[in-house]
Amino acid sequence: MKAANETNPDVTTEVAGIKLNSPLVLASGILGTSSDILKRVASEGAGAVTMKSIGPVEREGHPNPNVIEFGFGMLNAVGLPTPGVDNVLQEMEELKTSPVPVIASVYGSTVDDFVMIVEKLKPYKPAAFELDISCPNKEDGLAFMASEDVVYKLVSSVKKAAGNIPVIPKLSPNTHSIPRIAAACKKAGADALCAINTASAMVINIEARKPVLAYKKGGLSGPALKPIAVRCVYEAYQATGLPIIGTGGVTTGRDAIEMIMAGASAVGMGTAVYYRGISAFREVLGEMKEWMRNNNVRSVKEIIGAAHY
Ligand SMILES: Cc1cc2nc3c(=O)[nH]c(=O)nc-3n(C[C@H](O)[C@H](O)[C@H](O)COP(=O)(O)O)c2cc1C
Repeated sequence: MKAANETNPDVTTEVAGIKLNSPLVLASGILGTSSDILKRVASEGAGAVTMKSIGPVEREGHPNPNVIEFGFGMLNAVGLPTPGVDNVLQEMEELKTSPVPVIASVYGSTVDDFVMIVEKLKPYKPAAFELDISCPNKEDGLAFMASEDVVYKLVSSVKKAAGNIPVIPKLSPNTHSIPRIAAACKKAGADALCAINTASAMVINIEARKPVLAYKKGGLSGPALKPIAVRCVYEAYQATGLPIIGTGGVTTGRDAIEMIMAGASAVGMGTAVYYRGISAFREVLGEMKEWMRNNNVRSVKEIIGAAHY
């Protein structure tokens, strides 16, 4: 028998019953909704791709500058631009031939928005629906995930609308309690979780004496977000035991292994694509395999949640 360090490590995994050939998942919002580009990422070693969040109607987003790199990560205030659900149906049709599972990300400002979008997208059979629960709720202006009750209502309503398509709420670090929100998602029937979205942040240009982004505040992503993401994944795993797509600052194979040890079954990558290009998926997967060989780990599944035991 070959020793683990001579074999090709098993990097297959599973999230919400979806089998993935690679644990690396393109995070939402990084490469839009175009089927051509999403299929290209699939051919570069991603195990699944997440579409940019789809809203109820066309929306332009915030003015420039709306994305900046500041040395430890990125700040963006793109403002959820979307062509609107009716204008992505053609891309959904084309994505039916994607070589890897396609996760449709959805946002809205009411529970009814989410349900309406899910109902329109359901006939195209995405592998799962990811819910951006960090967007503001029209009723009180606070994010959906500011309240366990609101999250429960949202996730249970979407679950009913989604039929047998898995539902994956995406947690935000901008909350009073990851364990409580994660538990509310589980109680409402969530099949898995994605953690995390960006963290609310600001960078000021001291010569100009002004925030760098036109919108002033933005969402922090990339390396500076990673320890926050690892903590959130750890807490969500502990609170629910649900499969998690661990996302936030993963740029190298070691980062991905760390996320898996915190409790992630798969690993989202967004900002790394800005830093390393689309080949980031193939390269990070290679780095993961090398680490696994050197540490006698035969399968990714062996180390999910390893930091808990
Ligand atoms: C420019 C940009 C746009 C984003 N758009 C979305 C989006 O539409 N929906 C969403 O759920 N997350 C969105 N995100 C968040 C990412 O999916 C991811 O959760 C976050 O960036 C942390 O991961 P990273 O450090 O690997 O980028 C966006 C991130 C960036 C940088």
